[in-house]
Amino acid sequence: MAKEIEKVAVIGAGVMGHGISQVFAMKGYNVNIVDVSEEILRKALQNIEWSLSKFAEKKRIRKEDVEAALSRIKATTSYEEAVKDVDFMIEAVSENIELKKKIFSRVDQLAPPHAILASNTSTLSISEMGRATRRPDKVVGMHWFNPPQLMQLIEVIKGDETSDETVDSVVELSKNLGKTPILCRKDVRGFIVNRILGLVFNEAFWTYYRREATIEGVDSSVKYGGGFPMGWFELCDYVGLDIAYEVGKVLYEAYGERFKPCPEVIEPLVKEKKLGQKAGIGFYDWTKGRPRIPFELSDEYDYERSWAVAVNEAAWIIHDDVADPESIDTGMKLGTGWPQGPCEYADRKGLNNILKKLRELYDKYKMEMYNPCPLLVDYVKNGWIGRSAGRGFYKY
Ligand SMILES: NC(=O)c1ccc[n+]([C@@H]2O[C@H](COP(=O)([O-])OP(=O)(O)OC[C@H]3O[C@@H](n4cnc5c(N)ncnc54)[C@H](O)[C@@H]3O)[C@@H](O)[C@H]2O)c1
Repeated sequence: MAKEIEKVAVIGAGVMGHGISQVFAMKGYNVNIVDVSEEILRKALQNIEWSLSKFAEKKRIRKEDVEAALSRIKATTSYEEAVKDVDFMIEAVSENIELKKKIFSRVDQLAPPHAILASNTSTLSISEMGRATRRPDKVVGMHWFNPPQLMQLIEVIKGDETSDETVDSVVELSKNLGKTPILCRKDVRGFIVNRILGLVFNEAFWTYYRREATIEGVDSSVKYGGGFPMGWFELCDYVGLDIAYEVGKVLYEAYGERFKPCPEVIEPLVKEKKLGQKAGIGFYDWTKGRPRIPFELSDEYDYERSWAVAVNEAAWIIHDDVADPESIDTGMKLGTGWPQGPCEYADRKGLNNILKKLRELYDKYKMEMYNPCPLLVDYVKNGWIGRSAGRGFYKY
């Protein structure tokens, strides 16, 4: 069980790996962090030190905790050294299945037999990584959100052969790290949060593509009308257009027409390397800081459309037995800062109203993303339309 996890290895010291290592070290775990060069490791340690000092400045940790956390982190380019006596390994290398499989196979040979091997992948198959080892029952998804030091959510993903014991250990471990884990019961693409977000992005892209609203108009409605922390285009810039584009392709491959991408919107920008905030430009110009979204344009787009497709995808996730409504809602609130989860929103709004909206949109556009999930149709047929009826996604 998680209490026995004391020594961990983090493979990959990039954006996610250094943050994950820091969280472990702050919580008292000894961490070996691995990357391909001394230079990258040096940078990662510098980043960790900087971030720890910020925590101390903000009085979230004591000054002496900075040194203590740093002293628990050992950086090395040697896999042998890093994993030979660990109880837990998490891999956060670049998003490439062949690379990840190679790493899982290598770590499997070098780490003690009891060690749990986890991946921080955003989209790739945990089961495939498990099959690259002799311990697929101990291979699991542990999907953190960026930046790991600040984001509360962790998606724990059960691969085809992951044992319940492994899942329980990683759920417990996440709690010990001060995080909120949600369980993704099946190894499906996009897991929970990126699957819903991917569809909401797509709806916005298609709307813009059809010239029904401008980029600023969509974002204005979503932000000022819907109360979301960022508009979809702004958020997409923040995530990185290259990442959103790749995730979009994976989701389309996995779920088909419901996730039909709108390549005309995102692909040209990716080709021009306009990748969003990190590149200084994407849908918006970021060179002078966060874009100003004009309030006046909020009537251009109906943010209820975003909710409708989000609720529909949540229904599919429940229909496919991937997660329960509570996990979905927690995931969207903690993973993306949504003011409410889609299931609780639908229960307040009325599932009948969501269904009506989806049917209107489906009749108008004939696109699968608006085609109501059978679970939603059944709930409404049963009279389970939400809070007002005492039963919707939740029982009241
Ligand atoms: N960036 C995000 O917002 C985010 C959020 C959640 C999950 N993820 C996932 O986390 C993983 C890492 O993403 P990132 O953004 O930190 O990437 P990154 O490019 O910042 O870091 C990847 C690191 O892996 C290292 N690496 C490559 N090959 C290696 C090898 N053979 N051995 C050891 N190290 C190796 C690279 O040198 C690099 O430092 C990906 O699977 C990504 O999908 C990313």
